[in-house]
Amino acid sequence: MNITFLLNGETVELADVNPTATLLDWLREDRGLTGTKEGCNEGDCGACTVMVTDEGGHKALNSCILFLPQLHGKAVRTVEGASGPNGEAHPVQQAMVDLHGSQCGFCTPGFVMSMVASHANGATDHDTQLAGNLCRCTGYAPIIRAAEAAAKLPVPVWVKDKPAPAADARRVPGSSDELAALYVEYPDATLIAGATDVGLWVTKQLRDLDPVIFLNRCEDLKQIAITDSEVRFGAMVDMNRMGEALADLHPSYAEMIRRYASVQVRHAATVGGNIANGSPIGDNPPALIALGATLHLRKGDKRRSIPLDEFFIDYGKQDRTPGEFVEAVSFPRQPDRLKAYKLSKRFDQDISAVCGCFNVTVSDGSVTQARIAFGGMAGVPKRATHVEAALIGKPWTRDTIKAALPAFADDYAPLTDMRASATYRLETAKAMLERYFLEDQGEITNVLEVSA
Ligand SMILES: Cc1cc2nc3c(=O)[nH]c(=O)nc-3n(C[C@H](O)[C@H](O)[C@H](O)COP(=O)(O)OP(=O)(O)OC[C@H]3O[C@@H](n4cnc5c(N)ncnc54)[C@H](O)[C@@H]3O)c2cc1C
Ligand code: FES
Ligand code: FES
Repeated sequence: MNITFLLNGETVELADVNPTATLLDWLREDRGLTGTKEGCNEGDCGACTVMVTDEGGHKALNSCILFLPQLHGKAVRTVEGASGPNGEAHPVQQAMVDLHGSQCGFCTPGFVMSMVASHANGATDHDTQLAGNLCRCTGYAPIIRAAEAAAKLPVPVWVKDKPAPAADARRVPGSSDELAALYVEYPDATLIAGATDVGLWVTKQLRDLDPVIFLNRCEDLKQIAITDSEVRFGAMVDMNRMGEALADLHPSYAEMIRRYASVQVRHAATVGGNIANGSPIGDNPPALIALGATLHLRKGDKRRSIPLDEFFIDYGKQDRTPGEFVEAVSFPRQPDRLKAYKLSKRFDQDISAVCGCFNVTVSDGSVTQARIAFGGMAGVPKRATHVEAALIGKPWTRDTIKAALPAFADDYAPLTDMRASATYRLETAKAMLERYFLEDQGEITNVLEVSA
């Protein structure tokens, strides 16, 4: 596979690239650019953060789970390219020095590159922008102060990369039509979307994935269409764009996405990958099922659409045939009644122990519709049909909620694992329904507020 991209402003052309070589390994081992650090090698610590620029803008990404072909036609800037051509410090570098943002320095290149990207984008929600970078010794306050100070200064011209258009490369199709044809030809190929799951199969499980097909140049799969009747996300819509699109429509869902991994992972992770991986603890499926979503699949020229909950047949088993891929997911426009509650051990950058999503319609004081779905409660993302039945047609009161709680045990027999015990999962699922009711009565709960 031949690819081309800009690295710190200079064109790089690579022939016969190993399709699952990571950018981090290539930078450090082939280019000698050892400023970019390896911490966890699984997307958790941000030590390997680089800035990637494409038509979608500047993005902080974790280079440890970024495969070289994903860079085709893009621009990469590493910490070596943060400073100017004459050695001028970037404003975030100067601020990190002036405000004592670094001690041992291991995390510093990653922080600097996250800050370079957020500075280029004019983002000032620094806690969110830096939630994917871990520091064990400096402490976060000086680093946040540095980000605040740099935000007042202009973006240096040298980081405004403009990648040149690149021709399509084999296995990196440029449209969903090309993808459909290629996948029918190689039905056993591993599809790679954002690689935030697949990347770990390589870095942690040392799996050989070839043949692979990359989806990241299928621009038509990145479309978001919001009409009067429907909201539709192409499979390649990443989590940051999805969160922005949902902010006004379903703010609780958007807030849940803010807690989905980190900025770096959300720039890569796609909604299609989060559904297709069939994970019982993926955060999108329960929210989408509660919204009544439909999944759109394609194989060659044939398309079919199914209710999203029917896609998840059993643990590790989805309704998808070889050569068939997820094209989009859609749900009806509706008044916002959705609450998405993500419960995890850490607020940021953590996989859900339980993710409960509630969409209950009340008319004249009675429940007319209820769609409730959970992640982390079964081997698949699953609707709480018994709980729904216990609510529908009943008055929307505390007594109805209390009477519905035992039905959770009919819907779910959760597992005990490292994230939570079965008993805890069942009890918190019940508590989430109570929280949904109380919030609907105006008793707003905020997990960021601590009260004694
Ligand atoms: C540090 C870290 C934190 C994370 N935190 C969260 C979290 O908070 N919540 C959460 O839900 N997940 C989380 N994840 C998991 C992961 O980010 C998501 O599952 C993500 O949405 C996967 O999307 P992707 O585009 O990266 O998929 P990939 O890794 O590219 O692919 C995943 C699977 O889906 C298949 N696939 C991808 N696209 C398609 C398609 N269009 N059609 C058919 N098959 C396809 C691939 O072949 C593969 O089997 C985290 C991962 C990491 C590394
Ligand atoms: S090395 Fe930790 S996120 Fe990449
Ligand atoms: S300065 Fe040592 S880990 Fe951050």
